[in-house]
Amino acid sequence: MAQTWTPNSWRQKPIQQVPDYPDLAVLESVESRLAKYPPLVFAGEARRLKHALASVAEGRGFLLQGGDCAESFAEHGADTIRDFFRAFLQMAVVLTFGAQQPVVKVGRIAGQFAKPRSSSVEKQGDVTLPSYRGDIINGIEFTEEARVPNPERQIMAYRQSAATLNLLRAFAMGGYANLENVHQWMLGFVKDSPQAERYRKLADRISETMDFMKAIGITAENHPSLRETDFFTSHEALLLGYEQALTRVDSTSGDWYATSGHMIWIGDRTRQPDHAHVEYCRGIKNPLGLKCGPSLTADGLLELIDLLNPANEAGRLTLICRFGHDKVAEHMPRLIRAVEREGKKVVWSCDPMHGNTITLNNYKTRPFERVLSEVESFFQIHRAEGTHPGGIHIEMTGNDVTECTGGARALSGDDLADRYHTHCDPRLNADQALELAFLLAERMKGGRDEKRMVVNG
Ligand code: PEP
Ligand code: CO
Repeated sequence: MAQTWTPNSWRQKPIQQVPDYPDLAVLESVESRLAKYPPLVFAGEARRLKHALASVAEGRGFLLQGGDCAESFAEHGADTIRDFFRAFLQMAVVLTFGAQQPVVKVGRIAGQFAKPRSSSVEKQGDVTLPSYRGDIINGIEFTEEARVPNPERQIMAYRQSAATLNLLRAFAMGGYANLENVHQWMLGFVKDSPQAERYRKLADRISETMDFMKAIGITAENHPSLRETDFFTSHEALLLGYEQALTRVDSTSGDWYATSGHMIWIGDRTRQPDHAHVEYCRGIKNPLGLKCGPSLTADGLLELIDLLNPANEAGRLTLICRFGHDKVAEHMPRLIRAVEREGKKVVWSCDPMHGNTITLNNYKTRPFERVLSEVESFFQIHRAEGTHPGGIHIEMTGNDVTECTGGARALSGDDLADRYHTHCDPRLNADQALELAFLLAERMKGGRDEKRMVVNG
């Protein structure tokens, strides 16, 4: 694409998934207010994440990316954020210690508000209303008023993102993430689950290692990496007016960055190469994600890679594969082979959620065994192709919800009604997320041992 890029050049392109704002003057005034607000994240932080992802692209380390499908205004609260962070840290520590690999931690949080929808309308009985598109756009209540897109919601989303990020930064840097607290990260309801014993054993081994290191003079006081962690934020860059308002020039490099989050991704429904979302994302320097679903062809993927990462910079692009447990074996190998043939540097990540959604008792759910099965296939395929299974992308919460069936507590279709709180897609609860982390650690460790055997053998 030879045309010059500007933060608003996307406005000249066709666009999918745009809300129908009734008053464009109000929208414009909101966007110009947002454009004056402080950035939420900084270019240097986005570069640090890119650097960490570059190592993953080169086969060292693993990307853990997860959080709500859709953040909501109603569930904004300190406890929800803390419980998410705890569950996420538990997963990260299981992966780091279990698989002995650095883990790059990226939340789907502090900005994950806008949702693409398969239909622009929702029907209940004989009433048809515009679909809910995420709290940054309209309300979830099934009423005419709630479903009207309201630009002021963008200001609310910005402020909630700022407050969420502020708490996450404090947790990551202010002592909560100190490895000496590894036992305290156990959530109340996970304590009596089958995962608890496994986690306790691992936490004991970490504590023992820490005691040994303390004895030889390596402590959390003199080694920041034991008491602090790098935690980054990400969301789907769907609402481009909002993204544009938060797009800023980095004074040190002169480059444009999205400052709404460290990493942003392009959804499976908005990745048309000549459309607005790809146009916006190609011009900013943040690390990018690209959702890859069954309809993506190998040539289509290579075209997108050239547009989004023309310099073939490692760490710039993460391919988030979301095929479904029964389709991953059909679709992923052809994409891997095309990328390998062309020598493109990417992080391969597995989203085992979005291709595995079913409806049960009128609830959207995901059978946990299908999630695990897609993850297993993802690892097997990468082993067979000789490429690095670099990451996982999941929808999860630290709350004890009943949204995905299965797992060690064997949640059934009848349990879904108990605590089904998601504003969009069903999430793994902390218990299921931890179970998944143990499986991932085993698979990652398996791969490492195999590599060693090849090297030594
Ligand atoms: C999502 O991540 O919530 C989502 C909508 O994913 P996809 O674009 O892969 O369908
Ligand atoms: Co989702």
